[in-house]
Amino acid sequence: MSERHDAVEVIVAKRDGGELDDSQIDWVVDAYTRGVVADEQMSSLAMAILLNGMNRREISRWTAAMIASGERMDFSSLSRPTADKHSTGGVGDKITLPLAPLVAACGVAVPQLSGRGLGHTGGTLDKLESIPGWRASLTNDEMLHQLEDVGAVICAAGAGLAPADKKLYALRDVTGTVEAIPLIASSIMSKKIAEGTGSLVLDVKVGTGAFMKDLDRARELAETMVALGTDAGVRTVALLTDMSTPLGRTAGNALEVRESVEVLAGGGPEDVVALTVALAREMLRGAGREDVDPADRLTDGSAMDAWRRMIAAQGGDPDAELPVARHTEVVTAPSGGVVSRLDAMAVGLAAWRLGAGRAKQGEPVQAGAGVEIHARPGEHVDAGQPLLTLHTDEPERFERAKAALESGFDISETAPEPQPLLLGTVG
Ligand code: URA
Repeated sequence: MSERHDAVEVIVAKRDGGELDDSQIDWVVDAYTRGVVADEQMSSLAMAILLNGMNRREISRWTAAMIASGERMDFSSLSRPTADKHSTGGVGDKITLPLAPLVAACGVAVPQLSGRGLGHTGGTLDKLESIPGWRASLTNDEMLHQLEDVGAVICAAGAGLAPADKKLYALRDVTGTVEAIPLIASSIMSKKIAEGTGSLVLDVKVGTGAFMKDLDRARELAETMVALGTDAGVRTVALLTDMSTPLGRTAGNALEVRESVEVLAGGGPEDVVALTVALAREMLRGAGREDVDPADRLTDGSAMDAWRRMIAAQGGDPDAELPVARHTEVVTAPSGGVVSRLDAMAVGLAAWRLGAGRAKQGEPVQAGAGVEIHARPGEHVDAGQPLLTLHTDEPERFERAKAALESGFDISETAPEPQPLLLGTVG
């Protein structure tokens, strides 16, 4: 088959600051998926996009080409509306776990296709896999059936969904091109649009523990994604939320499941509850069910019922004991005072080094590893009092985890100004 374009022509056009036309974009994404455009050519194009950007038409077309590389799911046969949430990733961000069953308990179906963690941020599937028996892979038919029956599914995206993104994301990861806003936005939105949700809420994280370290870039990413969703007919809104401090009091797989269950039981840390309820409200609004108050469903037990059914439907035992790490070590406060800073990146890195995350795709993770936080910013500690507990199966990991935390917190005489969790809304 003769090709419509060649890779060097497309790379040079973007390298020289030009706009790619629709035909060039359709071709290069398709040809890369087919293996006609080589990895080194696509990495050169990704770098040209990172350096020179793309306009709204180019990003929209690039996203459409990534969707067209695979299958599109269709939930229109369901008896209830659908809503999904995507977080750009943070430390201790276990919100999907209580959120999906909570929204299902409010009468809206949640088809949540999730990923595994890479680097310092945890992956939702890794967290759920710490529950004995739970399985991440479902067929499309099983997913549809569970959505109708239980109302919530959290599972792995099948190989058929946006295969161009799977290939490109792995390439970006090893070529220093992850941070390009057009590539992040099209990567996330191609999967969410192909997944077939009717409405979408984006949680765009800002701060040391996030991809986006400053508010302006986070807002630009949020605006780009909201425009892509809206153009594709998906009602999309984004919340900009703080990720300079970890969410809640745990970072690590089974530790985060335990905390999520506390939230579903009507307790749990205040910030986790507040963000879960704020995102649930936006999802319900997107699905036309703003008449339901999600806060009530956390306290009346119906969100917990939906959680138990969701876990059991995927082979998990909601009553099973969760795995616990074989070793723990306590980090104590070096002086008395008020915790004025607890850095999300430092805690994420420590949890990762303890074995909660992986360095390479495909590596196993430890279910019990992670960091437990005893004092969050604004809380008082005495000298020598426990600040953090580190958990791992391999005690030789403690030293490097402690090194990550060395400059990761401050204790001051006076309390810090309370930092808002919600920093803005787009859409
Ligand atoms: N998550 C994605 O799915 N893609 C990106 O590019 C970044 C985060």
